[in-house]
Amino acid sequence: MEKILVIGSGLMGSGIALVSAKAGFDVTVVERSQADLHQGMERMKNTLTSLIQKETWTKGEKELIWDRIQGSTMLESGKDAHLVIEAVPEKLSFKQAVFRELDQVINKEAILASNTSSLSIAAIGGVTERPDKVVGMHFFSPVPVMKLLELVYSLSTSDETLQKVKLIGEKMGKTTIIAKDFPGFTVNRVLVPMMNEAVYLVMEGNEPEQIDRGLELGANHPLGPLRLADYVGLDVLLFTLESLYEGFNDSKYRPCPLLRRMVEAGRFGKKTGQGFYSYK
Ligand code: 3HC
Repeated sequence: MEKILVIGSGLMGSGIALVSAKAGFDVTVVERSQADLHQGMERMKNTLTSLIQKETWTKGEKELIWDRIQGSTMLESGKDAHLVIEAVPEKLSFKQAVFRELDQVINKEAILASNTSSLSIAAIGGVTERPDKVVGMHFFSPVPVMKLLELVYSLSTSDETLQKVKLIGEKMGKTTIIAKDFPGFTVNRVLVPMMNEAVYLVMEGNEPEQIDRGLELGANHPLGPLRLADYVGLDVLLFTLESLYEGFNDSKYRPCPLLRRMVEAGRFGKKTGQGFYSYK
């Protein structure tokens, strides 16, 4: 395994590209347009600088990492990749369109992984002629800092594929867990309903600070569920809850009406400046 192609350079894609390069892989990041690619490369540069300022990574690593990353707007530039990691927005039709194209363009031996946090790996792999080589590699945000990589196998994913991505994940410094292909996999299946429950507490009149302090000090969580929801993005949280709700057809995953209202009001959390807390 030498070359990794990362599709998408948003928060997740750019983090995945950085940890891949740090692990010694040659990385090509693909975006739809020059403007998006430029934005993604800037994001990576800024993240790298901030990781070095915080002494999470060392100065000496900076040049090495940066030299290993290339940007492109053409999938063909990664056709000799050994592994592709897709990190485009969480919409099944987007992901399926990307995988259809990847299957045509990328060499037949390559593994095609999705960073989806809740969509079906079977449905993504099903549009390709190599579903045995399609797997979930679910990284956690912020990717350079979070230690976990959740590997998701569908009914069609081969053991060989799973073992290969496990080794790559470990080379990236991540600890892996293996999860079955059901909505939310393992971590989000537990974490996302907890955040939803915290939103119900706000709807009932409790103060966000009180709820967060409760979980921080009473359950030893590094940060409370509402601050975390603001960081993750309330739009993303709502989408993930809807995937769980639809996937299991179970009312226990019903998104809290207040969460829906906040998203409708454009309060997505930190990225829009307002969520349960203000970031202006
Ligand atoms: N998503 C996006 N950004 C995040 C984030 C997250 N989950 N967690 C932290 N950040 C960002 C913060 O916004 C902040 O950005 P800034 O530098 O631009 O202000 C930066 O990371 C640093 O955060 P802190 O101020 O908290 O700094 P610390 O160094 O004290 O802590 C940390 C860093 C250990 C990463 C801590 O923030 C943390 O524990 N965060 C939670 C991480 C986590 O639980 N991630 C899993 C999310 S689950 C998920 O993504 C669900 C989804 O798939 C539905």
